[in-house]
Amino acid sequence: MAIEKTLSIIKPNAVKQKHVGEIISMLEQNNLRISQMRMLQLDNVQAKMFYQEHIGKSFFDELLNFMLSGEIVVLKLEGENAIARYRELMGATNPCDAKEGSIREKFGDKTDLTQNAVHGSDSKESAKRELALFFK
Ligand code: TYD
Ligand code: MG
Repeated sequence: MAIEKTLSIIKPNAVKQKHVGEIISMLEQNNLRISQMRMLQLDNVQAKMFYQEHIGKSFFDELLNFMLSGEIVVLKLEGENAIARYRELMGATNPCDAKEGSIREKFGDKTDLTQNAVHGSDSKESAKRELALFFK
């Protein structure tokens, strides 16, 4: 199977709640190799560029405000079938639906699906686009 690259973001709620270490540990234990990593706070322009596919949706303003609300950790992950394997490890978008032991089940806010702790690219095309926004 081909080695893929994907983008992970540890979102502001998980950083504020001090779950960065545990989430990174889960990535390592699941053989998602971290090849680059940065901590930063998004600005409005970057956040809109990153979430451009969701512009105009009902949840967009809430999503943007949340993503701008604090520091995030951005990681480049590599491994066999990394895109799908990381999506599996993250769990469903809504932490209430995320399977037991997944990152979103453990660290997402079960009363607010916007605050679901992590992002992961959903395809090779998204991974390429999203990685280029953060890693030159
Ligand atoms: P989406 O790309 O559909 O989910 P995923 O992160 O699993 O790829 O949505 C992007 C983010 O937008 C999602 O992680 C949380 C937020 N969101 C909401 O706040 N409300 C919603 O109804 C949806 C679908 C997403
Ligand atoms: Mg998505």
